[in-house]
Amino acid sequence: MDKEGACLNRFALQHKVALVSGASRGIGKAIALGLAQAGADVVLASRKLPDLEAVAQEIANMGQEAIAVPTNIRDLAQIDHLVQVAQGKFYHIDILVNNAATNPVFGSVFNVDEKMWDVTMGLNLKGYFFLSQAVGKVMRTRGSGSIINVSSEDGIRPGLGAGVYSISKAGVIMLTQVLAQEWGHYNIRVNTIAPGIVKTRFSTALWSNPVIRKETEDSTALGRIAEPDEIVGAAIFLASEASSYMTGQTIMLDGGHFSSVRMLLSTIVSPD
Ligand SMILES: NC(=O)c1ccc[n+]([C@@H]2O[C@H](COP(=O)([O-])OP(=O)(O)OC[C@H]3O[C@@H](n4cnc5c(N)ncnc54)[C@H](OP(=O)(O)O)[C@@H]3O)[C@@H](O)[C@H]2O)c1
Repeated sequence: MDKEGACLNRFALQHKVALVSGASRGIGKAIALGLAQAGADVVLASRKLPDLEAVAQEIANMGQEAIAVPTNIRDLAQIDHLVQVAQGKFYHIDILVNNAATNPVFGSVFNVDEKMWDVTMGLNLKGYFFLSQAVGKVMRTRGSGSIINVSSEDGIRPGLGAGVYSISKAGVIMLTQVLAQEWGHYNIRVNTIAPGIVKTRFSTALWSNPVIRKETEDSTALGRIAEPDEIVGAAIFLASEASSYMTGQTIMLDGGHFSSVRMLLSTIVSPD
């Protein structure tokens, strides 16, 4: 094999099995398709079976295997069932993408009630933790694995009107560091992807609002929001041998959304 081939090979996922939560649409779907394109077989999880089956069919059309396992990640019994089904089919799990999350409320933290807190934390943090624990046990037996947690730029800087969501996403970054530290000696790597606004159903309220959209684009170095496909490359990198010495880290994919810097800049540099 030539040098270029050997280098690209480090991104290949042949003979790997990936489990992706929230795989029926948006970022999770894009990642599931991307991992399959790189050679992985994929276990697809979210609540609605027909949506998952459509993604499984797309993966089958690429020549990889995929199974659709309807799962509510808030429910620990369903998490156990998901991991059992995955093992029953593929025997091992090499890659876990914790991606399914929610933000049921926009507004002041004064208006957050216990139910909103529990719904958000139950999926975004508790769900990520217990799915990681269940899959981590499978990876430990095999002596290798890569876990990719999808957080958000809101986990690093608070998203306005998204207080509890931001707290949950900050928790995901610490979850990543805790698991990376504890599981490194099992050769399980754990990293985070933290996107800015990506055009999905989840963020419709943001990108379909012309004022918020312009504000975001004006304060982003690349001048636009992301498409789901633009999150895939980082996921393949973190899933593959290409990132073999990387763990506990967070990759920001926000198009250079440094609003304070841009605003400061606009006061001292006239626009060209
Ligand atoms: N879009 C953005 O601007 C943005 C920015 C930063 C970070 N993120 C993060 O990216 C990730 C994916 O977001 P997205 O924008 O792709 O969202 P999305 O398009 O709304 O997709 C969410 C996925 O999660 C599944 N899901 C929701 N609740 C679930 C539950 N209780 N159990 C299992 N699956 C569940 C949904 O399927 P079902 O409804 O069928 O269950 C769907 O597959 C999230 O972690 C989000 O926080 C998104």
